[in-house]
Amino acid sequence: PNADSTRGKLLSVYEKAEHFYHHVLVNTKAGEAAYQYLLDRGMTEESIDTFKIGFSPPQRESLKMYLENEDLSETEILKKSGLFSDRDDDKFYDRFTNRILFPIKDAKGHTVAFSGRAFMDNEDGQMRTAKYMNSPETELFNKRRVLFNYDKARPVIRREGEVLLFEGFMDVISAWQAGVRNGLATMGTSLTEEQVRTLDKVTDHVVIAYDGDSAGLEAIKRATDFIANETHFSIEIAAFPEKMDPDDFIQKRGAEAFKDFLAHGRDTLMSFLMKYHKKEVNLNNESDRLKYIDTVLNELTRVTSAVEREMYLNQLAETFELSTDSLKEQMHGHIVENQ
Ligand code: CTP
Ligand code: MN
Ligand code: MN
Ligand code: MN
Ligand code: MN
Repeated sequence: PNADSTRGKLLSVYEKAEHFYHHVLVNTKAGEAAYQYLLDRGMTEESIDTFKIGFSPPQRESLKMYLENEDLSETEILKKSGLFSDRDDDKFYDRFTNRILFPIKDAKGHTVAFSGRAFMDNEDGQMRTAKYMNSPETELFNKRRVLFNYDKARPVIRREGEVLLFEGFMDVISAWQAGVRNGLATMGTSLTEEQVRTLDKVTDHVVIAYDGDSAGLEAIKRATDFIANETHFSIEIAAFPEKMDPDDFIQKRGAEAFKDFLAHGRDTLMSFLMKYHKKEVNLNNESDRLKYIDTVLNELTRVTSAVEREMYLNQLAETFELSTDSLKEQMHGHIVENQ
């Protein structure tokens, strides 16, 4: 873009800001503790450099002063950048203080926003503020559109024929370190239509790899409903065990175990749904059992492959000691209803 346009100027501000924050993290006393924290979490120096992770110092005019020295102090542009909170008309304060910053890039690799992770916890271990804080929406940044790591992952997604969707930036980066480089994350929201349209240009196959906690499970359910109903993507689910998120899994069990889990531990959409709906019922109770079977049969109407349908019908028949004929009949009832 034209360097004199508003967009061009905003991009330079973000480029400078990224440089500044990364420098603070890697080379200054102010960033030491945050840097050590990242290393202790298993992040490598190489990743810190690749993703240009940064740290915003506690002083509220650090970035402001740096940009002034760089001759980037046009008030309108600073205002529009979202990097400052303007409490009154002529006094600007850095929006991000005391946070580890993850640059958010557009498809071309230009930094258009930051997501900041709170770094100093209270002594009692409680967070003082929200764990993550994003840049506000600007002319450059629309959080419904952006996918974290899309710029780097795109060629890998093409090559591998599939994309991995994670919940968090830390998961994407950990996976990247483990050699799994087709991972993306949304900006703390569920997947949007805009993001799906972007993905559609590179692949038709989504693997959902959200956190293994109950929030993650609900998010997987929502994502599968959205993807299955609104798109033509094929979906698989990597449901992480024991409340671990992918990053925890990698730190605990290592890169090889992670890759092995991704290769062989996936659920089909249907087997995920069959597990998911079990949580709502007590299968020792007859009425619950009937409810469960009916719910699963209804979900089964989404499956278009005849072989896959038969596989799950057989599985249900065996588990509940029923004939596949009656199961099929009830499923067809749902097909008619759902039309
Ligand atoms: N998120 C957010 N605001 C929060 C918490 C989470 O926007 N208060 C978003 C962030 O994009 C984050 C993602 O949700 O990356 C996943 O959240 P969570 O699982 O809580 O964070 P982790 O990625 O696991 O981060 P960490 O391991 O550092 O705790
Ligand atoms: Mn397509
Ligand atoms: Mn989570
Ligand atoms: Mn997580
Ligand atoms: Mn985590």
